[in-house]
Amino acid sequence: MNFRTIIEPFRIKSVEAVKFTRRDDRAAALRAAGYNVFQLHAEDVLIDLLTDSGTGAMSSAQWGAVMQADESYAGSRSFYRFEAVVKHLTGFTYVIPTHQGRAAEHILFRTILKAGQVVPNNNHFDTTRANIEAEGVEARDLVIEEGTVPHVLHPFKGNIDLGALERLLEERGPQIPLVMVTVTNNSGGGQPVSLENLRGVRTLCDRFAKPFFLDACRFAENAWFIKLREPGQAGRTPKAIAQEMFSLADGCTMSAKKDGLANIGGFLAMNHAGWAEAARNLLILTEGFPTYGGLAGYDLEAVARGLEEVVEEDYLRYRIRSIEYLGEKLIAAGVPIIRPPGGHAIYLDARALLPHIPPLEYPGIAVANELYVEAGIRGVEIGTVMFGLRSDGTERPGPMDLVRLAIPRRVYTQSHIDYVAEAVIAVAASRSQLRGYRIVSAPKALRHFTAVFEPLG
Ligand code: F0G
Repeated sequence: MNFRTIIEPFRIKSVEAVKFTRRDDRAAALRAAGYNVFQLHAEDVLIDLLTDSGTGAMSSAQWGAVMQADESYAGSRSFYRFEAVVKHLTGFTYVIPTHQGRAAEHILFRTILKAGQVVPNNNHFDTTRANIEAEGVEARDLVIEEGTVPHVLHPFKGNIDLGALERLLEERGPQIPLVMVTVTNNSGGGQPVSLENLRGVRTLCDRFAKPFFLDACRFAENAWFIKLREPGQAGRTPKAIAQEMFSLADGCTMSAKKDGLANIGGFLAMNHAGWAEAARNLLILTEGFPTYGGLAGYDLEAVARGLEEVVEEDYLRYRIRSIEYLGEKLIAAGVPIIRPPGGHAIYLDARALLPHIPPLEYPGIAVANELYVEAGIRGVEIGTVMFGLRSDGTERPGPMDLVRLAIPRRVYTQSHIDYVAEAVIAVAASRSQLRGYRIVSAPKALRHFTAVFEPLG
């Protein structure tokens, strides 16, 4: 048997009804939400592609483990199972559970950063950048040139520019406390980083005696791309590739809401005893005792099992193919997207789609809002609203103006995705009628979550 159709590698045991709404209702809901899809009631969304974070479906094995969990405050059996799985996968000595990824970031950065320093990364995601900047530290993005141009094809558009990293280490060495690489590169289109690139980072970190941390949220999707695209890797299991990725680093921050296949959870893991001790002390102050870190015992069980399921080949083959399937349909219809499709999402290139709307009138918001009103689909702007505000309060265009359609794991079927493709193509066809937005009010940091917008005439 060698059939071409890649099917969902599961059958559905429990379903949740989605609510169909009318166009007028959606237009009213969006107005009431200040034209910001983050402020919508999720019930009013038909297909929710806001994020792939914490929105996946757990397996029956995960739910079974939930029922078996140990809720002891200290020394829970569920913690030791979680710790064993994370150690086996990452090889790191110290494993610190946190309630989600940004808590791991906060604890790491609060304990090691000092004002005036600079942290290099391929691209920092929004909360990572905000947690670094909150310490008075610069978050420097050094993704390769190809990674900043949506239509340019490259197998590893998430790679960090090793030449630029070397120059930064030479010029600012003493002010660089660690080097980070995000796998896959979320802000840059869910694009993977190659093993070769990670090895290059390792070599530079050894030369300059710097610790190297992965932002590992989507490590399994990254490993699958390495298997597909990197010479010599096709015969390896995604788990072995993931283990090698981790072995090149000294630690990681992780949101288990992505490739942990759980609804909540995360961890900080590392080999540095001193940093781990400082992190544990802050953990106790802000998250919880080190054997639960702000999570229930059942969350630790769900993550432990999720980390085992996420590296299964059948799962990753389906996962990456289902994103590519949506990408192919949009490319065939001439809709500009980041190419090649990423691991967890399709990123519409709103700047290319709406050349008549300048970046400071937020073309990404225009596309995201139209998709909601026309089709009940919720995506998210990753562009000038998310990344365009400077610390002095002035604005500049973000690196790109994108609308991310993130696909929750194991949640939507192929017909849902067919519907999404049809809707995006219809919105793209009506592009000339779309108008920009202005911001009525917004907070100083992470403004995209709560900003209130107004359509321009
Ligand atoms: N790092 C990356 C690359 C992320 O994508 C995220 C979350 C985090 C860190 C923080 O993890 O949410 O568990 O605190 N990204 C989500 C998203 C929210 O929609 O892409 P968290």
